[in-house]
Amino acid sequence: MSAAGCSPPLPRLAVVPDACAPGLPLTDSVGRSVRYLRLGVTDRCDMACVYCMPEGYRGTPRREQLSVDEVVRIVRVFYAVGVRTVRLTGGEPLVRRDVVHLVSAIATAVPGLDLALTTNGALLARLARPLRDAGLQRLNISVDSVHADCFHQLTRTGDWAAVRAGIDAARDAGFTEIKTNTVVLRDHNLDQVPEIARWAHDRGLTPRFIELMPLGEGASLMNQHVPWTEIRARLGALLQDGPTESPRQRGPAFYLPVRAGQGRVGFITAVSNHFCNTCDRVRVSARGELRACLANPHGVSLRDAVRQGATDAQLLHLLRGVLAGKDRHAFTTGPRAAAAVVMTGIGG
Ligand code: GTP
Ligand code: 5AD
Ligand code: SF4
Repeated sequence: MSAAGCSPPLPRLAVVPDACAPGLPLTDSVGRSVRYLRLGVTDRCDMACVYCMPEGYRGTPRREQLSVDEVVRIVRVFYAVGVRTVRLTGGEPLVRRDVVHLVSAIATAVPGLDLALTTNGALLARLARPLRDAGLQRLNISVDSVHADCFHQLTRTGDWAAVRAGIDAARDAGFTEIKTNTVVLRDHNLDQVPEIARWAHDRGLTPRFIELMPLGEGASLMNQHVPWTEIRARLGALLQDGPTESPRQRGPAFYLPVRAGQGRVGFITAVSNHFCNTCDRVRVSARGELRACLANPHGVSLRDAVRQGATDAQLLHLLRGVLAGKDRHAFTTGPRAAAAVVMTGIGG
């Protein structure tokens, strides 16, 4: 971390005095604190889910992605201003060949961090243990179906048996939390919702059901969108009677308790009941672009700033500038170009 004082400004990077206070918490234009960074580590993927991956998408060349040192630098800057959770996303983070080294470098450089990762699970059989040993704490794994044929159809290439083996390896590796993610599509997996929930609970995992968002490929699939109340209705027998919604503890999901035994089911309802008013998140894309909101396809390049030799104070100035433009309900009031968001490039 650089000293608190300002260094001489770089060309093309203005520096203002208030950006030179690295310790000040990061807040947005309406005073929400930013505590959570979603960091895309690659935009490549070994699957091609129908709601996520554009056909013929070409990944970013490796030299245009953040290096391990650049990622660590950026994480340290965010940590200095109060970010305490970093979730690594993709594309599929595990296709990045140095992902274990990346996790280890972050965990070593910033020991107090809550370090999590979202994956499609295909490479977990080999990588779950090394990732856990490297300091990764929490995992979210996509499970859009527990039937091999439907799984293959939705992921276009995915092998359910490999993902199942990956989930077993993750359970054995002792992560502090493993949750599953199911994006619900009316004609494909809505009828499997209770089965997926039971499958996850039987393995000690927390199932979550996600409303399809009209972002990127999702925009042209909205005839498949299912509001969370309908998903909940499918789970009627499994869930306890009572509140139809619970407070969100952290993140976009809220959870309802199951009727028998322990466990809960999560819902992520970005469309029918969005959670922007409590958003504490910021994103860095696989190309190193800082974005205030998932629904905004535009950002500011932290990568270029780092490569131009920006000081920490200058990077903070960029962060504060982007956050100053984040409004209260960015998902619905942000730029109407959500279909231009490439989900595999920003990691959901
Ligand atoms: P934790 O809260 O750390 O468990 O992570 P998470 O549930 O936010 O992460 P995950 O990568 O598993 O994302 C689950 C779903 O939530 C995906 O569909 C994401 O696109 C969506 N999501 C995550 N953060 C946001 C957000 O800030 N806004 C919106 N609209 N969707 C989000
Ligand atoms: N709507 C909702 N969730 C999506 N994801 C990817 N695209 C969409 C979309 N259009 C989810 C993936 C994964 C997470 C990173 O984002 O299923 O769980
Ligand atoms: Fe790959 Fe995940 Fe996108 Fe599916 S949702 S294409 S697994 S990045």
